[in-house]
Amino acid sequence: MSGGAAPLVQARNVQKTFKSGRLETQVLHDVSLQLRPGEFTLLMGPSGSGKTTLLSILSGLLRPSSGQVELCGVDISTAQDAVSARVRRRHVGFVFQSYHLFPALNALDNVAEVLVLKGIDRMQARAHAGSMLQRMGLGARLQHLPSELSGGERQRVAIARALAGNPSLIVGDEPTGALDKNTGLSVMGALREQLTPQRGVLIVTHDPRLKQFADRVLEIEDGRIVADYAHTAGVNEAYH
Ligand SMILES: Nc1ncnc2c1ncn2[C@@H]1O[C@H](COP(=O)(O)OP(=O)(O)OP(=O)(O)O)[C@@H](O)[C@H]1O
Ligand SMILES: [Mg+2]
Repeated sequence: MSGGAAPLVQARNVQKTFKSGRLETQVLHDVSLQLRPGEFTLLMGPSGSGKTTLLSILSGLLRPSSGQVELCGVDISTAQDAVSARVRRRHVGFVFQSYHLFPALNALDNVAEVLVLKGIDRMQARAHAGSMLQRMGLGARLQHLPSELSGGERQRVAIARALAGNPSLIVGDEPTGALDKNTGLSVMGALREQLTPQRGVLIVTHDPRLKQFADRVLEIEDGRIVADYAHTAGVNEAYH
C-alpha cells in the first residue's frame, strides 16, 4: 500500500502457549507479519484457530510467549504492562462483537466519556462526539441508551467511540457477528470509511462475504498463517 511508510504493527516469530494446570497448549506458531497504514485487513479462519489470540497480541492486549511485537514503533512484547497499555490506549481503537458500550450512558456520552478520560473538556467532548455520531448517521439517536438502539446502531456508536482518540489502528473482533447480513455489511462499510493513508484496520471475521471490503486477507489455521494475499476492495455504494 503506502510503500515506505513504517508499519503499524510488526510481529516476528510470535508464539503463544496457554497453560491450564499441567496442560500446555500452543495456540500460535511462529507468526510473522506486518500491518501497514492505509490497509484494511481481514483475519479469517475456523473457530479455535487463534484469531482472537492473535488480534489480542498484535494490539497489545496480550503478551506473546515468545517472539517480538512492535506496535507503532514500541516493542510491546517486552515492555512493562503500563507501557503497553499506554501505547494501546494512544494508538488502538477496539470494536467488539458485543459492542461493550456503557449501558447507563446515552450514545452521545458513550463517545464523549472516552474523550473526557483523555483530558478533553466535557463541553468540547460532547460537541466532538455529537459530530462523530452525526457522521455515522446517528444524529437522531444521541440521547438514546444502548438498550434503545438496534444492533447496527450500537455498533456504529462503538465505532465512533473507537475513533474518538483518532487511533492509528482500528481492530475489530467479529464486529458484525451479532448482526444480520445487511446490517453487518453496512457496519463494515462504516468501518471501511474510517481507513485513511495514516490508519490501518484489522477485522476478524468468519464471513467470506466481507472480503469485498478488504485490501488484504490473512488466513489462519491451527495457529499458523496459511495464506496472506492482496484483495481488491470492491466496496459497493449500496452498503453506505
Ligand atoms: N486464556 C486462555 N487459556 C487457555 N486457552 C485459551 C485461552 N484463550 C484461548 N485459548 C485457546 O486457544 C485456542 C484459540 O482461541 P481463540 O479464541 O484465539 O480462537 P478463535 O479463532 O478466535 O476462535 P472463535 O472463532 O471461536 O472466536 C482455542 O483452542 C482456545 O481454547
Ligand atoms: Mg475469537
